[in-house]
Amino acid sequence: TPSYNIASIPGDGIGPEVVSAAIQVVEKLAKKLGTFQIEFTHIPWGTTYYKQTGRYISEDALDTLRKFDAGIFGAVGAPDVPDHISLWGLLLAIRGPLQLYANVRPVRTFPGTKCPLNTATEGIDWMLVRENSEGEYAGQGGRSHVGQQWEAATEVAIFTRVGIERIMRFAFETAQSRPRKLLTVVTKSNSMRHGMVLWDEIATAVAKDFPDVTWDKMLVDAMTVRMVAKPQSIDTIVGTNLHMDILSDLAAALAGSIGVAPSSNLDPTRKNPSLFEPVHGSAFDITGKGIANPVATFWSAAEMLKWIGEKDAAEKLMTCVENVCAADVLTPDLGGTSNTQGVVDAVFAEIEKINA
Ligand code: NAD
Ligand code: IPM
Ligand code: MN
Repeated sequence: TPSYNIASIPGDGIGPEVVSAAIQVVEKLAKKLGTFQIEFTHIPWGTTYYKQTGRYISEDALDTLRKFDAGIFGAVGAPDVPDHISLWGLLLAIRGPLQLYANVRPVRTFPGTKCPLNTATEGIDWMLVRENSEGEYAGQGGRSHVGQQWEAATEVAIFTRVGIERIMRFAFETAQSRPRKLLTVVTKSNSMRHGMVLWDEIATAVAKDFPDVTWDKMLVDAMTVRMVAKPQSIDTIVGTNLHMDILSDLAAALAGSIGVAPSSNLDPTRKNPSLFEPVHGSAFDITGKGIANPVATFWSAAEMLKWIGEKDAAEKLMTCVENVCAADVLTPDLGGTSNTQGVVDAVFAEIEKINA
């Protein structure tokens, strides 16, 4: 039987709560199916590690991760550390340097989760593709004359032909693989006249290789309106690192809750291991209360199983999770009264029922 080694980086806040829930569920599934083996290795990176060592990740972090088939990540961010320190210390120190350039964020309502819009009675089924290695996240910029009256700060967005082309191809391929074969390329090429114009040009060029994909362009501000007003007109969306960061939180809320939204940080070349994580953060307001919704991390774990080659297990896991939601075993963010453990137990019971 195939066997996989997975790095587990629970991180901060509710990260450990949802990652522990996901590991329990995946281990239970592997045991039940008996068709593959999976081992999770705990990696303690996060704010506690930072306070002990002065670093968010080890010096050899990238090589450490390269030993694994994939990674599962919780969240990072603590109330007493500035967010730009924690996020650049951990998550952004991995995504860019490991060239996990495709951040894939599926958005779907399923029974139990509900779109708050009455325009979307049939629910939502979107695939968001986020460029994950450049743009405003290139880490370029700085401050001069700090503290002085004429202080200035720059946040330089870098867009490269290579970077745009690879995510554009990935997005067209993603759209092509879905039944509706629709792609919307999101930019802001009216006010941003360099990088965003290059995005538009590359989209037009790449589209020629995908004649069966119907595509359109949309400015990001107008796209927020379309997501709310005409959700059924959307299928696959591609956009920059920053634009899709924002649109993916909106999409998550439209699909019912940020607590169900999964995310895959993929290296489509498969040179480096990919990293799977919920879209949400460390959620200080509910940390330690035992009520974090684990569904986003379950779904992320299912995407991980799919990526490493266990498609059947991934589908079975999602069926179990959907059954639990349909049975109204829901955490408070979805209007339910269950806690995290209650959802885990219910998924356990569904796993037990598999081909029994
Ligand atoms: P957040 O996603 O942590 O929380 C936003 C709101 O959603 C909160 O009310 C929270 O309780 C709720 N929520 C989030 N996940 C939930 C879940 N699984 N179940 C139920 N409710 C959930 O965003 P924020 O408040 O802007 O950020 C908090 C910290 O997390 C900050 O330090 C931020 O920088 C960091 N952050 C980290 C990541 C990451 O590591 N991937 C992502 C986003 C934010
Ligand atoms: C996300 C998060 C991250 C991002 C933060 C935590 C760096 O908001 O994954 O959506 O901005 O990419
Ligand atoms: Mn975000």
